[in-house]
Amino acid sequence: MDVFHHIKSIRLAISEAKAAGKKVGFVPTMGNLHDAHLALVEQAQQLSDVVVVSIFVNRLQFGLNEDWDRYPRTMEQDIVKLTSIGCDYLFHPEEVEVYPNGMDEQTRVIVPSMTNVLCGSSRPGHFEGVTTVVSKLFNIVQPDLAIFGNKDYQQLAIIRRMVEDLCMPVEIIAGDIVREKDGLAMSSRNSFITEQERPRANQLHRSLSWICDQVKEGNRDFLKLEGEAKSQIEKAGFRPDYVTISNSKTLEPAAHDDLEITVLGAMYTQNARLIDNLSLDLYTEEKAVRG
Ligand code: PAJ
Repeated sequence: MDVFHHIKSIRLAISEAKAAGKKVGFVPTMGNLHDAHLALVEQAQQLSDVVVVSIFVNRLQFGLNEDWDRYPRTMEQDIVKLTSIGCDYLFHPEEVEVYPNGMDEQTRVIVPSMTNVLCGSSRPGHFEGVTTVVSKLFNIVQPDLAIFGNKDYQQLAIIRRMVEDLCMPVEIIAGDIVREKDGLAMSSRNSFITEQERPRANQLHRSLSWICDQVKEGNRDFLKLEGEAKSQIEKAGFRPDYVTISNSKTLEPAAHDDLEITVLGAMYTQNARLIDNLSLDLYTEEKAVRG
């Protein structure tokens, strides 16, 4: 695997690959790679000829009191993992390369729709930081396709919208959520879960699954279901941030007759904020019941 630290050098390598008629797939990350990241890389390998992974812990998407400084940085292990699965190029720039004029005056990309709800309302400015850096990375790498995990459902929806609104020539592809055996969604922040908390840390997933079961059984009292799920999370010893039953496309609160809904949630452990979601396609469910 070739490792690049500079925009100029990765651009040159990619332009050579493109000139040779190769399709370029891209997986942006913040590093501390786990099996879910590697699954996205493998998915990209199936769909393209050359795969580029970026590792950049983007300060612009972290709030002032958030965990940018303690976000796990494990570059050596990350390189070993990416090499072992045959990733072609790694782009690992310094902050000054990405933000040469500093961050305060950085031109921003703002997607007005969907950014201020759910994670956006607890993390003001977060998605603006994400869309800005992803736009920059797209301009640097100029991939044919880019893969984002469904675990960050809202991020994926916002990036799709950005690409559509700004006519970016990149195909956005979703990767399935990869989970630990007990249902906990893999995340770099899982390393902040304490040993005592770990056996109960799948509560978010359990509560979201419980809501899905209830909805499948015909329960449409969404507010009550959301409230009940939050109490379950509290009883397990965590602080719920939000649990919402949303329309899968708009992320607005789901209407009672919506057929594509996504149940999203976030909760705080002692040292981390964890997110998860589950999508329900009631149209397919209904067809299956009717036969
Ligand atoms: P990061 O949290 O490192 O995630 C990189 C990619 O891996 C994202 O697309 C995320 O959705 C995906 N991912 C993480 N855990 C996953 C899981 N358990 N299952 C499936 N996919 C998973 O998301 C970011 O970085 C940043 O915001 C970034 C897009 C790189 C911009 O800075």
